[in-house]
Amino acid sequence: MTTETISAAHQASAPSADPAPLDPAHIDPAAPILLFDSGVGGLTVLEEVRKQLPDAPVIYAADTAGLPYGSKTEAQIAARVAGLLGRMTERFHPRLVCIACNTASTIALGMVREVLEVPIVGTVPAIKPAAAMTRTGVIGLLGTEATIRQAYVDRLEHEFAQGKVLLRYAAPGLVDAAEAKLRGEPVDSAAITGAAEALRAMPGGERIDTVVLACTHFPLLEEELSQAFGPGVRFVHGAQGIARQIARLTEGQQWARQAPDRALLTGRTDIPDAYGDMLKRYGLEKVERF
Ligand code: DGL
Repeated sequence: MTTETISAAHQASAPSADPAPLDPAHIDPAAPILLFDSGVGGLTVLEEVRKQLPDAPVIYAADTAGLPYGSKTEAQIAARVAGLLGRMTERFHPRLVCIACNTASTIALGMVREVLEVPIVGTVPAIKPAAAMTRTGVIGLLGTEATIRQAYVDRLEHEFAQGKVLLRYAAPGLVDAAEAKLRGEPVDSAAITGAAEALRAMPGGERIDTVVLACTHFPLLEEELSQAFGPGVRFVHGAQGIARQIARLTEGQQWARQAPDRALLTGRTDIPDAYGDMLKRYGLEKVERF
């Protein structure tokens, strides 16, 4: 396979500044990191967090009752994310929250940072490293419908991809495909080939050599996407860099896991065995309703 993945973080720098590290002396060693997404996408970030911070207690929160976010309005997404994170931080006192979702971050990160006291790390499309990597100057971007229309993405494009062509395509079918894959169900290959073909069909699309996976669900399908795009296309996403940013913000802090890590689902918890087993593979031993 000639496809190469390069992960990179883009901590959202606007509309509010990155959080500062907290004084390690004031952190309860049992306080978890809270990772939040609409579904299984944030597990791509959790995987990297596990590698860099293996002792960190984690709560993985998935707003499965609100999935998919991509087809919702900005107001709906902002209300859900702010409401849930407010209640979750009150109940679980995390030392840090990671919004492991591009859709939620590009819409609600600034607002959530203003209302919650805990440090919040966001996930926004990795346009900057993609612009540095492309040789042809044509970058594809796959995201949700809500993400690709955000002014936040316009700003990233303006700031980091001047002189390049950025072709955006909303691929909601890939969210369903990633959810299916992690449930052990067949993946809809038409959604994957359809996304690749749609980007290729845009003006200049045949010259795409770099694709930004601007939804945390999409790295779960990287192998399938790689086949669909063919050789010579590299994929970029933020998981590794986000984990690095979390490690930096928690540097010097003590970790003491006092109970098995858990997944919180806002939707049904009578999940298929394959789904429960998959969560266990990410170290999430228990599943609870929130
Ligand atoms: N994982 C989310 C993201 O990064 C979106 C999936 C959804 O549509 O809920 O944008």
